[in-house]
Amino acid sequence: MGFLKSLFGPKEAKMVSVASLGAHFEVPSGQTVLEAALNNNVKFPHNCTVGTCGSCKCKLKSGRVSALTDFGYTLSQQEVQAGFILACQAVPKDALTEIDVESDGVVMPEAEKFTAKMVSSESMTHDILKVTLQLDRPLLYVAGQYANLSYEGLPKARNYSFADAAHLKGRGEVSFFIRKVPGGAFTEALFDGKLKDVSFEVDGPHGNFHLHPGSAPMVCIAGGSGLAPLLSVLETARRDRVDRPCIMLFGARTQADLYAMEQIKELAAGWAGKFVFMPVLSHEAADTSWTGARGLVTQFITDAMPDINWAEAEGYMCGPPGMIDAGIASMTEQGMRLEAIHYDKFTDESHTAKMP
Ligand SMILES: Cc1cc2nc3c(=O)[nH]c(=O)nc-3n(C[C@H](O)[C@H](O)[C@H](O)COP(=O)(O)OP(=O)(O)OC[C@H]3O[C@@H](n4cnc5c(N)ncnc54)[C@H](O)[C@@H]3O)c2cc1C
Ligand code: FES
Repeated sequence: MGFLKSLFGPKEAKMVSVASLGAHFEVPSGQTVLEAALNNNVKFPHNCTVGTCGSCKCKLKSGRVSALTDFGYTLSQQEVQAGFILACQAVPKDALTEIDVESDGVVMPEAEKFTAKMVSSESMTHDILKVTLQLDRPLLYVAGQYANLSYEGLPKARNYSFADAAHLKGRGEVSFFIRKVPGGAFTEALFDGKLKDVSFEVDGPHGNFHLHPGSAPMVCIAGGSGLAPLLSVLETARRDRVDRPCIMLFGARTQADLYAMEQIKELAAGWAGKFVFMPVLSHEAADTSWTGARGLVTQFITDAMPDINWAEAEGYMCGPPGMIDAGIASMTEQGMRLEAIHYDKFTDESHTAKMP
């Protein structure tokens, strides 16, 4: 009887509670947690809505959800095991689902749309450009966030992280470090000089990567163009006289892929506390002048600051997905809490293409 009722009786309402946002709402059949939250005017963090950016990451406290696409493409294995889900890909299965959205009191500005022109494009390495755009009005962001860039004819916007320190009144000019992706629609056009005169649409700020308040030692790892959001966070922190112990590791393939080295040296010299910087090269030929670290950047986390208290330290990482996953595994192995690891994975279309 109970079975027949479940087949033919009225469908039980599926409710979701998000205590940290003070929200309780119904999720109609066929909708994801994120869709229902937004339809109920809940300010749930999000951006891509297709499971690739990680902005809607939240923790399942009770109840079960099914995943439209595997959470593990964007979240690390450790996060999935610890109960983290992506609200944009989660459909509740039970009458009540309780979830938690991380909140440390830092308020992210509302995203807006701006128009922009490129005012400079400077070569940082053979495949990374520093691109500066002049906006129609100042854009306010928290250091670590990113913007969605598009122009007429590009079917889908691309995400790029702000590279400069944040400014309290916003910035009229914004810069990005953009790496050339072979076969990539946006970056090939950019590197071919075809975007010099286009009118860009800049939609932002987006994302939740930022410096979390407190005094915990910071372990920062950047890979390739992932240096942009980390430099933005660290330059802002230096300006604000943050004196937390800081390790900064920068992973690159060869010496030719290292950039902003002078800026990092100045950053280290001007940091109010202890600052250790270690560049690590993964593909440098054995017979070159390089005397620094060789291997994968994530193998050097402990070497950089051996006396760090891992249980209270925080991790900040930006760059390619493989580096982030290895970094999470390595830091949690040392004893860092999963909740203390913050990152932006620079996913691209090839990651979306892998999804079923
Ligand atoms: C939060 C976030 C922040 C980011 N910040 C930065 C940043 O600061 N700097 C930066 O350089 N990048 C950043 N990225 C990455 C950036 O958004 C773009 O993904 C990247 O620049 C590639 O764009 P593209 O248009 O050149 O390539 P795309 O045209 O998107 O293609 C990317 C790659 O995928 C392959 N591909 C595309 N479609 C398919 C398919 N169907 N099947 C198989 N392969 C496919 C292409 O051949 C290419 O190799 C960020 C990404 C995220 C999510
Ligand atoms: S909004 Fe869910 S992963 Fe991007």
